Amino acid sequence: MEHKIEELKAAANDAIKKVATDLKELDNLRVRFLGKKGELTALLRGMSQLSAEDRPRIGKIVNEARAQIENLIAEKNSELKAKALQDKLAAETIDITLPGRKIHSGHLHPLTLTLNRVKEIFINMGYSVEDGPEVETDYYNFEALNLPKSHPARDAQDSFYITEEILLRTQTSPVQARTMQKHKDNAPIRMIAPGRVYRRDDFDAAHSPMFHQIEGLVIDEKITFGDLVGTLDFFCKEMFGESTKIRLRPSYFPFTEPSTEVDVSCPICHGHGGGCKVCHDSGWLEILGAGEVHPRVLEMSGYNPSKVSGYAFGCGLERIAMIKYGIDDLRLFYENDVRFLNQF
Ligand code: PHE
Repeated sequence: MEHKIEELKAAANDAIKKVATDLKELDNLRVRFLGKKGELTALLRGMSQLSAEDRPRIGKIVNEARAQIENLIAEKNSELKAKALQDKLAAETIDITLPGRKIHSGHLHPLTLTLNRVKEIFINMGYSVEDGPEVETDYYNFEALNLPKSHPARDAQDSFYITEEILLRTQTSPVQARTMQKHKDNAPIRMIAPGRVYRRDDFDAAHSPMFHQIEGLVIDEKITFGDLVGTLDFFCKEMFGESTKIRLRPSYFPFTEPSTEVDVSCPICHGHGGGCKVCHDSGWLEILGAGEVHPRVLEMSGYNPSKVSGYAFGCGLERIAMIKYGIDDLRLFYENDVRFLNQF
């Protein structure tokens, strides 16, 4: 009997050790040796034939054998499980050294970048940002700006008319009148109005039938020409750099009096000229038109010129961007060639 038990133990040990990966196989062995119809149970059954004094001793040996086999199975079981986990981890390993696929993200257009900067500068000075329609009435585009139907300055801006009274706005100045009319009782105004404008121009390095302007309008008590010059000087220094200078030339606009055209010192050659391609050697670049708001313009939109005064200015956004970045062809802004756009 004892011999049989030893044999069984040795057989179980051998069989369990041989199991390499299969948990199912291990379970089959458990059933084979320890199960109800298993080999060890069969041995136990044979105990009835033993003498009364042998029974307890053999019983103990059988129980020890059972415990040993159970242990072997449990050990093998955790060994197999650990191995299975190792294999799974190894199989699912991600190679993090593989370079990823590059995602090309877009970015803001140079005109948008420039406009954002202009807005930022004026918003910091307390200006609001106003909007007006691109399809405009003759009244707002011309008449409310002191350009009656017969005015010769109307010829200077060849317009796209839709009907006799409706056109694509040729300037952002109509937003001056619209903004004044939104206010009552000579309320102070500090605004800029950016947007598209349209003119019957050629499409070349310096002209486009569509471009962008930024209008400015300030109205309050005791606003002077000095305030205008100070504001524009500050704006140009913020936009083009601390060392930037401005220069004023007398000019004419029907809606401002006096009127001026403003030049900035060339930010590329710093006003030195000397072969500079951007300013064509002059050291200066024209940037905007401005002036004190004409009393008639104030009056027509409900403001009292004996109580308040104001200044207005209008500049081309493309012009600012060309000066800032040293770009010599207007068309580059609209062609959307990524080789150009990527540079900003
Ligand atoms: N609207 C003018 C233009 O298009 C610019 C301007 C605006 C001049 C405001 C004076 C005041 O040329």
